[in-house]
Order: sequence, then structure tokens, then C-alpha cells
Amino acid sequence: MPAKIIGTGSALPGLVVTNKELEQIMDTTDEWISSRTGIRKRHIAVEETTTSMAIKASETAVKKAGIRPEEIDLIIVGTVSGDKYFPSTACQIQEALSAQNAVAFDVNAACAGFLFGMTIADAYFQAGRADTALIVGAETLSKMVDWKDRSTCVLFGDGAGAAVVRKEDSGILHIVQGADGARGSALSCDSRPVNSPFARKPFTKEFFAADSLSEGSCADKPSRKDFYADPLPAPDYLKMDGQEVFRFAVRTVPKAVQQVLAEAGILPDEVKYFFLHQANIRIIEAVAKKLAQPMEKFPTNLQRCGNISAASVPILLDHVNREGKLQKGDKIVLAGFGAGLTWGAAVLTW
Ligand code: ACO
Repeated sequence: MPAKIIGTGSALPGLVVTNKELEQIMDTTDEWISSRTGIRKRHIAVEETTTSMAIKASETAVKKAGIRPEEIDLIIVGTVSGDKYFPSTACQIQEALSAQNAVAFDVNAACAGFLFGMTIADAYFQAGRADTALIVGAETLSKMVDWKDRSTCVLFGDGAGAAVVRKEDSGILHIVQGADGARGSALSCDSRPVNSPFARKPFTKEFFAADSLSEGSCADKPSRKDFYADPLPAPDYLKMDGQEVFRFAVRTVPKAVQQVLAEAGILPDEVKYFFLHQANIRIIEAVAKKLAQPMEKFPTNLQRCGNISAASVPILLDHVNREGKLQKGDKIVLAGFGAGLTWGAAVLTW
């Protein structure tokens, strides 16, 4: 794709929670978490929301890109933890930035969300439908995890990352993506259950047929009050088969990276940095080994941020960019994988 990342930004919540602090509220240890995952602390939203962090990261990315918000044609947000079912997080960013010329929508591809956003922007550029895109990954997974399930809650953090991508003659060279819905149950989180009166006993068809909707009209029939007195079912939380996801990641990510490089005609040795989804240091080490590349080429921030799903890759990219480690002409790879199951990889010239 002839397009370039021209600005990046990120935002993290103010509260940092260490593994030692988690030890005080659940049956876990710093040793277990850090040796199994590499994670030592994570940022947890208290005042912040998915939207507020997404807006902050986007404002920085737009400022760094040196463009006016009106120049943005497309806003895509990868998120599974938006603050509202609707309007989308992307539409809320559009409003906050006054990017009135943009089309805006969210994408649900979990930890591959940012890569899916890039792929869609690529298609828009190629179709001549957009020249400038704002792509965001933003999550507040701390509200999706079950804080009584130590096998998942210790892994995740909150935050947002953003990048402005512009159609140019060079830059993003190639992108691949994939999905395997048949293995979706390995990592899932249910939405609201069907909960209309018609789905709940005793408010069956027969009840309505009996013409007894008025309160207390018949002693043995339920009344309107019964429906409203019934507590709403509790929301569901994220569930993960960690080992299944681990196996999927170490098999799929190297293949996707090898595919994107081979199709772009680039050797792994030519790549300066591989920005992988920050789920687990052991996954990143396994990918590095399969690609026969040194760990120095794999920047990480999972030690202090944990897994921030769709936001992991753009936050890491922004951190490394801000450290001044990316020079014009550098070849880099971005790769994400997660619930769906989904994955994506891109190779680009900085
Ligand atoms: N503290 C202490 N002990 C724990 C904890 C904890 N926080 N969590 C689990 N344990 C225990 C388990 O109960 C189990 O005990 P048992 O042997 O007595 O039954 C033991 O530790 C081992 O548990 P496993 O699940 O086998 O541990 P494993 O070595 O597989 O590591 C982990 C688990 C870290 C989750 C790993 O499987 C992993 O990283 N998987 C990939 C996860 C991932 O990448 N997710 C990304 C998806 S992101 C997205 O799309 C949202």
C-alpha cells in the first residue's frame, strides 16, 4: 500500500498497579505473573475511559502529523471495550477532534484491531475513497475481566494508541490478515443476553393471550411488577483458554510475518524492528526464535503495560517513536493476534 504513518500518539491511565499490589488482593505472586508472562505492572483506568484515552492519543497523533483535523477522511477504532454500544468510539473521536469530513466506525478484531484498521485504510486508499486516515486502538479491559479469575485479570491493562496514515508514494508495503472463527471459543466475552419480556418466564405468549397485563388482575398470574422486580442478569466477563491461545499465537504469528515479508520481497534481516502484540514475553521470544531474529529487534512494553488488546501495537509504536529510535527509511513489521481468532501483519518503511 502506498501510504505512510506520519504521526503517532498514545495515552495511559494515571493509576499503575504492580504485581506486588495484586498479591494483596488475590491469590497470586509477582513471581508467577512475571515468570509466566513478563508482566510486572499495568495501567488501570479509574477516571479515564476508552473514549477519553482514544481522544487523547488521537489529538497527539494529529498534532505530531502536523495536519488539521478537517483533513482526516477516515477514522477507524479497533476496540472491544468501547464505552457505549453506540455511538461508536470513532464517532466520538470525530466529534472531539472536529474532524467533520471523516467517515468514522469501530472494528471488532480484539488484539488484531489496529492491524485490521490499517488493512481497511489500505483498501480505502486503493479504492480512491480516502487520503488521510486516523487509526486507533483503545481499550479498557479492566472492565471486561473477572477480577476473581486470577488466570486472566493479571494479564491485561488499559490504554490507547493512535497513528495518522497518509496516502503517499512509499511507506506501507504490504499487509496480510486472517481469521479463524471455528476457534473463537478460546477467547470470548458474551454480550447482553436476550432479555425482553417475551424471553422470560412467566411472560410467555400464553400469559399475554390471557389478557392479564393489568397489575393484580388475577392472583395466580404474574403482573408487570414481577418483570420489573426481577434483577437483570449480571454482565459476562472475558474467558480465555490461555494455553490454546498461546499455541495459536506461536504458530500463527511467525507464519503471518513470514508471509507478509515474502510477499513484499523483504528478508527478515532487513527489518529493524518487529512490533508484536504485547500479550506475553514467552510468545514474543518464540516468534523471534522461529524467525531467527535477535530479541533486540522486538521492542516490548508489556513489562509495564500488560496486554492492552488492540491498543498494544500502536502504544508500543508511539513509545519507540517518541524515544527517537525510528529513522526515515527503516523497515518495520507490525503484528497483532487475538480473539476471533484473528491476526494481521504489516511491513512498512518509516
Ligand atoms: N497466580 C498464580 N497462579 C496462577 C495464576 C495466577 N495469576 N493464574 C493461574 N495460576 C495457576 C493455575 O491455577 C494453574 O494451577 P494448577 O496447575 O494447580 O492447576 C497453574 O497456575 C498453571 O496454569 P496454566 O494456565 O497452565 O499456566 P500457563 O503456563 O499456561 O500460563 C498464561 C497461563 C500466562 C495465560 C499463558 O497460557 C498465556 O500467556 N497464554 C496466552 C494468552 C494470550 O496471549 N492472550 C492474548 C489474547 S489477547 C486478546 O485478544 C484479548
